[in-house]
Amino acid sequence: MKRIVLLPGDGIGPEVVREARACLELLSDGCELGLEFEARDFGGVAIDRHGLPLPAETLAACQGADAILLGAVGGPKWDGARERPEAGLLQLRGALGLFANLRPARVMRGLVHLSPLRPELAQGADILVVRELTGGAYFGEKVLEADHASDLCAYSRAEIERIAHVAFAAARRRHKRVTSVDKANVLATSKLWRQVVGEVALGYPDVTLDHLYVDAAAMLLVTSPRRFDVILTENLFGDILSDELAVIGGSIGILPSASVGAAPPALFEPIHGSAPDIAGLDIANPAGTIAAAAMLLGHLGRPDLESLLVDAVESTLADGCRTADLGGSDSCSEFGAETRERLKERISARDAHLALIAMNRGCCG
Ligand code: NAD
Ligand code: IPM
Ligand code: MN
Repeated sequence: MKRIVLLPGDGIGPEVVREARACLELLSDGCELGLEFEARDFGGVAIDRHGLPLPAETLAACQGADAILLGAVGGPKWDGARERPEAGLLQLRGALGLFANLRPARVMRGLVHLSPLRPELAQGADILVVRELTGGAYFGEKVLEADHASDLCAYSRAEIERIAHVAFAAARRRHKRVTSVDKANVLATSKLWRQVVGEVALGYPDVTLDHLYVDAAAMLLVTSPRRFDVILTENLFGDILSDELAVIGGSIGILPSASVGAAPPALFEPIHGSAPDIAGLDIANPAGTIAAAAMLLGHLGRPDLESLLVDAVESTLADGCRTADLGGSDSCSEFGAETRERLKERISARDAHLALIAMNRGCCG
């Protein structure tokens, strides 16, 4: 039995999490996975019900979970709140020690026309952003006065080393290239970042390392996305670059992410926000959240089921089922239902395949 805590959150969060949960339930029932779900208040909805974005019972449930699936938090309703919904997300990342944020993006086979980039630029792009998630300006001391404000951006050697190891290890499983992105021509944290990343690289002689300033990286992402394999970067740069990266595949609605620490549980979510402009209309794209649920399966030790779900969601897109962000007219729930139809077919094909293997073993063994 695996305990999955669901944090639907605000805006389109509950709509996209509903579709992803239904996909996980289908796999759990069809493939004897034994997932157990438990939904908790988080973000703006938790402020409304409990007075704070990360109630103690939500944190405790997350700490006791095998994995967490999050929708999104925030919205104009809470913009003036003493403690915003987004603060709950930072508290959760900090409390669970989720220092590594993995954001994979690629232009899917046959779907290059969904990219806003010219096909000859976008074709074949396949990038993993490894974003440091519990340091930098997000977590440094903050001062906000009437005429003065500051956010301390600080990084220790140990923080840089551990995220660099994640990036190099990931590159080994991919195309063996790491591009470290910083602003070492200006920032002290970036100077240390560049030096430490260079030192960590010595332990991975099979992986090529290059360095880019973040402004140049932002340009190269859209002019030559194929030059990148793994992008390793600090918290704020990673936040910005991953939204840019997301649209290369067609829409921010399709990009998943995994936030992992030294020990479970890890947290899975789409990279987009609560999209207040389309909340409640059943038109949000759930593909990113479904893809995040697929990553969750991989992290639970079931890469076979991760592949089934990724394949189902990609074939749904390839068959022309698309929400408004991709120029289509299918609803969020229609996209989810179509994905589950394809998932059922794949589960049946897998069952037939497994039965055949068992039969052959019976004959030959
Ligand atoms: P956003 O990502 O919510 O929306 C940006 C644009 O993309 C909007 O036009 C929206 O309609 C569209 N969009 C986003 N996701 C989509 C989807 N799945 N399908 C179709 N269209 C989609 O960013 P924002 O408007 O800057 O932020 C809204 C709120 O979300 C803010 O409070 C912000 O802080 C919060 N936020 C939360 C998270 C999170 O919970 N992890 C991430 C980003 C932003
Ligand atoms: C993200 C979001 C968050 C971030 C916000 C909501 C705190 O933009 O997950 O990318 O900046 O990390
Ligand atoms: Mn972001």
